Amino acid sequence: MAFVDIILKKKEGLPLTDEEIRLFAEGAATGSVPDYQLSALLMAICFQGLDARETTTLTMEMMKSGDQVDLSGINDICVDKHSTGGVGDTTTLVVVPLVAACGAHVAKLSGRGLGHTGGTLDKIESVPGCRIDLSEEQFIEQVKDIGCAVIGQTKNLCPADKSLYAIRDVTGTVGCVPLIASSIISKKLASGAGAIVLDVKTGSGALMHTLEDSVKLAETMVAIGRHAGKPVYALVTGMDQPLGTHVGNALEVKEAVDILSGRAAGDLLEVSLELGSRMLMAVGKAESVEDGKRQMTEAIQSGAGLRKLSEMFRAQGASADVCQDVSLLPQAPVQIPVPAPRDGYVVSMDTTEIGYCAQHIGAGRVTKADTIDPAVGLVMQVRLGDYVRAGEPMCTLHLRNRSQADAAVRAMQEAVCIGEKAPEKRPLVYAFVSADETIYAEGYGPEKN
Ligand code: URA
Ligand code: CA
Repeated sequence: MAFVDIILKKKEGLPLTDEEIRLFAEGAATGSVPDYQLSALLMAICFQGLDARETTTLTMEMMKSGDQVDLSGINDICVDKHSTGGVGDTTTLVVVPLVAACGAHVAKLSGRGLGHTGGTLDKIESVPGCRIDLSEEQFIEQVKDIGCAVIGQTKNLCPADKSLYAIRDVTGTVGCVPLIASSIISKKLASGAGAIVLDVKTGSGALMHTLEDSVKLAETMVAIGRHAGKPVYALVTGMDQPLGTHVGNALEVKEAVDILSGRAAGDLLEVSLELGSRMLMAVGKAESVEDGKRQMTEAIQSGAGLRKLSEMFRAQGASADVCQDVSLLPQAPVQIPVPAPRDGYVVSMDTTEIGYCAQHIGAGRVTKADTIDPAVGLVMQVRLGDYVRAGEPMCTLHLRNRSQADAAVRAMQEAVCIGEKAPEKRPLVYAFVSADETIYAEGYGPEKN
C-alpha cells in the first residue's frame, strides 16, 4: 500500500487498520517514510482523531519500535509516575523517596525540561556530582539496593516517538489527545514499569488548559493501559499556578529537601501525597489513600524519606550531602524582589509565562544547545487568592547577573494578574481516573460544565 493512501483514508475520517498503523510507526522509526508524509498524516489525525483501538495499536507499535527495559531482575513490581509537565512541579523528588521509604520500588526514567516546563534530570544534575547517566545494570542494582533510582534514558526507547515528536513540535500537531497519549504511554511501557500513576496537569501552565481536555487525555491513557494489561491510574491536578513555590533546578531540589525535612508544606506536598498514595496502592503497599498518606507522613516525620533521597543522590554520585545542608546547592549571586504593581487579590497567573521567565533567565534551554544554569530561577511569595499591597514582593528572582533583572521583573508583573475580587478557591485534584471510573472533585463533574 502506498503511504499516500493511508493519509487519504485518515483525511476522509476512516479508521486505519492495525497494519497501516504499524507502517506509520515503522516509517517514523526507520525514516522509510519521509517527514512530509508523516506530517500530513499527523495533521489528518489532529482533525479526524483516532478511536480507542487505533490509539492502542499506535502506542504498542511505537513501544515496539525500539528497545524495552527489562526490570524483571528487581523481584518486585516497579511503580512509575509521570507528569504531563508543569512549572515548579518537583513531585518526583518528593514522591519517589517517600514511596521507596514505604517499601515500594521505583525505577524511573525521567526527562529534561521541555519548553516552559522543568525536567527532573536537570534538577538532579544541579546536585554537585550527581549523575543521571547510569548503565542499565547500575540502575537495576541501585533499585534492588535502596528501592529507587531516577536516571535518563540509556537505551534507544521508542524511536518512532522521537521522530514523530520532533515533527509534531514544528507542525502544530502537539495538542492532540491520541497523539499525546500514545507518545507518553509508549515510553512508559517501554521503560518497564509494572504499574503507572499519571499526573495530568490542567490549567494555565499545562499542556491542556481545560478540565474537559485534561480528563479526556487522562481517560485515554488509562484506557491504553487497560488494553496493554498494565494498571494505569491518573490524577488530574491543577496547574493554574506553579505547584511548589520554587521554580528552577537547584531551587526545586531545595524545596523537595525542605518538604522531606518537614520544614515546608503546601500544594507540592499535598499533590505528592495524593500521587504517592496511589503508587503505594497500585503495588499493594497501602490499603487506601488515607493509609498511603499516613505512611508517607510518618516517613517525613521519622526522616526516612529524606534519608532515602540522600541515599539516592549518593548512589548516583553526589559529592555533597545537600539533604543535610541545602547551602551546598549552587546559589545565584543576585536576588531581586518583584514588587506588586498595585493593591489587590492575586486573581490568576499565566503559569506558562512564569515557566518561560525562568527558562529565559537560564533555568531552561531556549535552544537545544543551551546549557542550564542550575542556580537560577524564582521563588514565589504569593499564591492565588492572596491579597497584596503595591510594592510588596510577589516573588524573588535568583539571577546570574543584574542585566537580566528588568525584563524578568516586567515578565513576572505581567504574568501575575491582580484584581479587585478574590478568585474562587479551586481544588488541587480535579479528578481521579481508573479503568473503572472517573471521580470528579465536588462541583466539577461534566454535568456542571
Ligand atoms: N509529553 C510527551 O512525552 N509526549 C507528548 O506528546 C506530550 C508531552
Ligand atoms: Ca517532565
